[in-house]
Amino acid sequence: MIDQLRTDAAAVIAGLGDVTNLDVLGEVEREAFGKTGFLSGAKKGIGALAPEDRKDAGRAINEIRGEVEAAIAARRTVLKDAALIVQFEAERLDLTEIPSSDAAVGHAHIVTQAWEELEDVFVGMGFRIAEGPEVETDWYNFDALNIPPSHPARDGFDTLYVNHGEPGKTLLRTHTSPVQIRTMLDQEPPIYTVAPGRVFRRDTADATHMPVFHQLEGLVIDRNISLADLAGTIEAFAEAYFGPGFSSRLRPNHFPFTEPSAEYDIQRPDGSWLELGGCGMVHPNVLRAGGIDPEEYSGFAFGFGIDRLALMKFGVEDLRELFTNDVRFLSQF
Ligand code: DAH
Repeated sequence: MIDQLRTDAAAVIAGLGDVTNLDVLGEVEREAFGKTGFLSGAKKGIGALAPEDRKDAGRAINEIRGEVEAAIAARRTVLKDAALIVQFEAERLDLTEIPSSDAAVGHAHIVTQAWEELEDVFVGMGFRIAEGPEVETDWYNFDALNIPPSHPARDGFDTLYVNHGEPGKTLLRTHTSPVQIRTMLDQEPPIYTVAPGRVFRRDTADATHMPVFHQLEGLVIDRNISLADLAGTIEAFAEAYFGPGFSSRLRPNHFPFTEPSAEYDIQRPDGSWLELGGCGMVHPNVLRAGGIDPEEYSGFAFGFGIDRLALMKFGVEDLRELFTNDVRFLSQF
């Protein structure tokens, strides 16, 4: 009986080589171990054996059953691996050919474009780029710039204060001028830097104002720097950024951090003027706050809004357009 069983089992195992799919394998398995399977007769046959032979026969049957089970499991693993490979092949993505016409390619925002172009122009003129934090102390934003606590100029900046530490001491910088102080404390003269950055004011948004906007600050500290160097630098910048035919003029003004101070305008080739920003010779108190001896060094500073420049360059009327992030608007530039 056991010999017959071995022969049957060997036939089942040999047949597995021809099974090439998992469903068929499942059927083979059910048949082998089911009611009509090769084992069923043997189980019944045990009853007919002498009691002392039953134990050995039972063990042999279990052993044979185990061999068939193991062979089926091994075949299942092989078939599953093969099925996975077929699936992977079917799902393979060819990443070497992405249809370019379907891919939407964006570009830098026009404020970023203006910012980067300005950096290029000033780096081309020998300036280095400086940076400062957007959250400032009132010392860097005001005191060190010759604007003491009671100074009326503080009211001119609609300052947003940060709820941190002593009240009124931490703020969102209202201009990029505090980077002047940080640069002077950080570097020895000669200093030729520009600091583009984001600034904040408690302003209601309209066509010409935003509570968040961008400025570019310039600072030059060296021996024998005069107002003529300032005027020449602004003139050179106007031509380099706007193109030939543009020129500039200075008009007297007042800023606490410069003495004398001026506003500067850029003249377009059609003769019209664009008011651009403020400038002047760095005030001795500001030099001292920056750790620089006013007897030895002098310098000039200037600052202007990047957003307004971008508006003008791209012929946009309303500052708010720059911040709505409407792709239909932005993709024109
Ligand atoms: N910080 C000034 C502002 O935000 C702009 C400015 C004026 C910057 C004169 C300067 C300067 O460096 O010299 O309105």
